[in-house]
Amino acid sequence: MENIVLKEYINNIPKAELHLHIEGTFEPDLIFKIADRNKIKLDHNSVEELHSAYNFNNLQEFLNIYYTGAKVLLTDEDFYDLTWAYLEKAHSQNVIHTEIMFDPQTHTDKGISFDTVVNGIYSALKDAEKEFGMTSKLILSILRHLPQEAAFETYENFFNHRDKINVLGLDSSEIGNPPSKFQELFTRAYYDGLKLTAHAGEEGPPDYVWEALDTLKVNRIDHGNRSLEDEDLVEKIVNNQIALTVCPLSNLKLQVVDDLRDHPLKTMLDKGIKATVNSDDPAYFGGYINDNFIKTAEALDLTEDEIYKLVKNSFEASFADEKRKNEMIQLLEKYKVNN
Ligand code: HPA
Ligand code: ZN
Repeated sequence: MENIVLKEYINNIPKAELHLHIEGTFEPDLIFKIADRNKIKLDHNSVEELHSAYNFNNLQEFLNIYYTGAKVLLTDEDFYDLTWAYLEKAHSQNVIHTEIMFDPQTHTDKGISFDTVVNGIYSALKDAEKEFGMTSKLILSILRHLPQEAAFETYENFFNHRDKINVLGLDSSEIGNPPSKFQELFTRAYYDGLKLTAHAGEEGPPDYVWEALDTLKVNRIDHGNRSLEDEDLVEKIVNNQIALTVCPLSNLKLQVVDDLRDHPLKTMLDKGIKATVNSDDPAYFGGYINDNFIKTAEALDLTEDEIYKLVKNSFEASFADEKRKNEMIQLLEKYKVNN
């Protein structure tokens, strides 16, 4: 098939994004605009200079830069503008449902209130629903390099925002911070009725994926690439229809894979794993969701059928209610490939 046809198919097909850090959508030009508005002096003198500092070789080097960018966010309006910029882009790429992670501790640790962060993000989500018909879920993500006590303090805020927050997540530096560190918190969240997800098997070993499933009882795994190293784990993931929210361009930039042609996405599909495609931190990793699909499809020779499957997986694995899920899957029907 001609690439141009596949690109158009990818651009047009309605899709869900399930692994997206809102702080990771902060584009250099918006960082400058908001820094200016808040009278904050940045270490870099121009958008280009800031952009050229984005050279990281692993997760930790990336996180150091990413937490620095987030420092200029102070007000409800800042969080609104950040979220709105992402939603407009996602809408232009035919994302019809998105599940957004935010890291409250990054902001509350510098004195910004939890309410400011959530209210700013949530107003933008509601506006996108009104304006674009785009639905969403909000994922409160815990920084795993901090102690569980700190996570519990942050979690207390959830009770004032039950109407806005739907999911508990776990991100930041994986190695040395296994999922089991947060067992009590995730048990609590489970009984509070939240859905659960955790980053696991991005840099960390298959054991961390086992822990996320068996100890934290997560509904989904973020990344999960290293699951493929353990056949019993693959069997469990397949049998339990656990979705992996895979982020190919992130994996390339953070050197989880050396070349997109070696990316495990196709292998995951071939093994019957419910894999999905997502952008993770698109402002830092060189592409939004369609770029992730297109570049990976080119590298792995994915067919329209496989793209369809990945998109269908994203709707099935979403935390949208059944009615919305069925509606979205219905919309997909006309993109089904005739064999
Ligand atoms: N992994 C862990 N933590 C993160 C990531 C990631 O890919 N992106 C933002 N926080
Ligand atoms: Zn992530």
